[in-house]
Amino acid sequence: MTIDAKSMSQSRTVMTELVFPSDANHHGTMFGGTLMLYIDKIAAIAATRHCHMPVVTASTDSLDFLSPIKIGEAVELEAFVTWTRRSSMEVFCIVRAENLFTGVRRVTVTAFSTFVAVDDDGRPTPVPGVYPENDDERKLFDSAPERYEHRMKRREIRYSSTEGGTQ
Ligand SMILES: CC(C)(COP(=O)(O)OP(=O)(O)OC[C@H]1O[C@@H](n2cnc3c(N)ncnc32)[C@H](O)[C@@H]1OP(=O)(O)O)[C@@H](O)C(=O)NCCC(=O)NCCS
Repeated sequence: MTIDAKSMSQSRTVMTELVFPSDANHHGTMFGGTLMLYIDKIAAIAATRHCHMPVVTASTDSLDFLSPIKIGEAVELEAFVTWTRRSSMEVFCIVRAENLFTGVRRVTVTAFSTFVAVDDDGRPTPVPGVYPENDDERKLFDSAPERYEHRMKRREIRYSSTEGGTQ
């Protein structure tokens, strides 16, 4: 059975939060761990929207924190599936902070994560393909195989450097 491919926009997910003092670190800016939790959550929603199956986080590439987020600002996260293989889905997440008094918005974090669809026994299971519909999406789609290669190299290095790993 073949599974019909879906557009990237079908998995697009947006979440907006107001930054409270309880979200901040001792410097008075948003705690990075809280943002990482939001990123993992929204990326999981986008991946599940794409495949309509349970998913697990397989890995997160580097997270680039570009500027601090202040208490009282709004953070808007946007995530969507950018590439798939058999059972894995790459999800791109972009986080923008907004000063609600001036309306000025800036990109503060970008991240790529990989999710794997699993069956009831936790075994990887096939997902629909994905296709881009505009130039920005096409750039993310076309550059995905290279990111995948990096990820697999990293995985290989990690496994071969741990006891009992594949050599
Ligand atoms: C992710 C997981 C399902 C992969 O299972 P596995 O038995 O190692 O399966 P495989 O090696 O056959 O890989 C299956 C897919 O996962 C991908 N994958 C596995 N590890 C990966 C990693 N570190 N980064 C990116 N992709 C990865 C493979 O590329 C493959 O993709 P494909 O089917 O699209 O080609 C399994 O390692 C797992 O359950 N990990 C724990 C997940 C978890 O607990 N997450 C946190 C809470 S949600």
